[in-house]
Amino acid sequence: MKTIEPCVLVIFGAGGNLSRRKLIPALFRLEVARRLPETMAILACSLELWSNEQWIAEVTDMLRSKFPDGLDEQAFERFCARLHYHPNPPGDGDAYLKLQKVLEETPEFSPNVVFYMAVRPSEFPAIIDKLGVIGLLKQKKGWCRVVIEKPFGYDLLSAQTLQGSLYRHLDEPQIYRIDHYLGKGTVQNVMVFRFANILLEPLWNNHYIDHVQITHSETLGIEGRADYYEGAGALRDMIQSHLLQLLALVAMEPPVTLSAEHLRDEKVKVLKAIRPITQNSVHAHAFRGQYTSGIIGGKSVPGYLDEPGVAPDSATETYAALKLFIDNWRWAGVPFYLRTGKRMAENSSAICIRFKNPPQDLLRHTYRESSHPNWIMLGIQPNDCLKMEIQVKVPGLDLHTRSISLDATYRKSSEADYDAYEGLLLDVMQGDHSLFLRIDEVEWAWRAVDPIIKVWAMERDFINGYHAGSWGPRGTYRLFDSDDQFWRHSLDPEGADLQAF
Ligand code: BG6
Repeated sequence: MKTIEPCVLVIFGAGGNLSRRKLIPALFRLEVARRLPETMAILACSLELWSNEQWIAEVTDMLRSKFPDGLDEQAFERFCARLHYHPNPPGDGDAYLKLQKVLEETPEFSPNVVFYMAVRPSEFPAIIDKLGVIGLLKQKKGWCRVVIEKPFGYDLLSAQTLQGSLYRHLDEPQIYRIDHYLGKGTVQNVMVFRFANILLEPLWNNHYIDHVQITHSETLGIEGRADYYEGAGALRDMIQSHLLQLLALVAMEPPVTLSAEHLRDEKVKVLKAIRPITQNSVHAHAFRGQYTSGIIGGKSVPGYLDEPGVAPDSATETYAALKLFIDNWRWAGVPFYLRTGKRMAENSSAICIRFKNPPQDLLRHTYRESSHPNWIMLGIQPNDCLKMEIQVKVPGLDLHTRSISLDATYRKSSEADYDAYEGLLLDVMQGDHSLFLRIDEVEWAWRAVDPIIKVWAMERDFINGYHAGSWGPRGTYRLFDSDDQFWRHSLDPEGADLQAF
């Protein structure tokens, strides 16, 4: 366990969705686990003219609704002692100078500072500029780090422009581009699974793997985030960042070491090898959809167009599926199917890897239905698990086969789970970049999706609908390379029936 130096964590957008749902609860859990240094302070910045006491009342509400079973009262008291609030109202030209004064003159504040940008992406450059101009990003007496939330830009060009504006005031080692998926335990387990075991390495290539599916589906809608989501859509929101990172971890070569640079070098090599999708081939490689009204968990939910803040003729996609190829020796010819959607049938994120059929089908006559190839499945959420599907003989006099699942769920129920943000916040405070994105990773990820973004932006007259609570729009099967490929919705053998859409 690395030690953490004293520091101040300044959260811009502290009153917003990300801070409420993820950052404050994650920090509180770190408090409960006694992982925060005693001399660490949290300075919340937001538009509201709250006092410290009002902010503490807000935090209390956030934590009580996040942890309805009750709070560890001692930890809560310790946590409240760290909390400070600084109002940053839009019209206040001196707000940043006042912030500087607070940072420099509050006796219990360390000179080491983390600035966390939990604000709308369009606000990143202006905030960085204001901090930079008054010298708050200089590392004079202590270190200064800046955490930038995703999406980093809205296409390649804007990502490069944003990068240019950061480099005016910051050096690369000061920048932490966060992709919270890299902080998830099972996502890190992909690396452990691949590189701590020799068993699968000989099979981990185009000789044995038929295709790879990476899915993130959620039952939630846009949760009041129309102002952000309307300009983003599912492709930018989930695929350009989280799902392409998962793809890189599944497909990368073993790195020289697990150091930040070596790891990111290998991920970049994969992203660079993604076969470019030309604008003419976008329809063969990508599918989008938008949810209409439907039923989720027994309750009726509105369609996307009826969500507050959504334009009545919006063509923003809430579902996106892609087929990508990685043109290198290991993966040539293996399709990687990525899909994500809001208001889907289930909350489920998983990586499913389908193997090829054996070269000779000796047991053809024993199948009750069609043959079943082997699958390896890494469940990311809600259940982190590792499953392997193989064929066995059905007990009895006749030679029949069936699929069984070897379930290597690795977390025992007694072992605590943690949220991705907990580990990532500690990493920033410890100065570890391994699970943060380097600018070239971000750029290559944009290059992979940019042609699709362009074509979809031009074709705004029609978008396929899908009912909330379903598995997405009909017709996505046209992405599949062969007739025996289908979306794997369930990680259980019984649920793995053919699903064409
Ligand atoms: C965020 C997206 O990055 O990830 C959200 O902006 C999405 O739209 C969320 O809901 C999913 O994260 P998780 O950790 O809940 O799977």
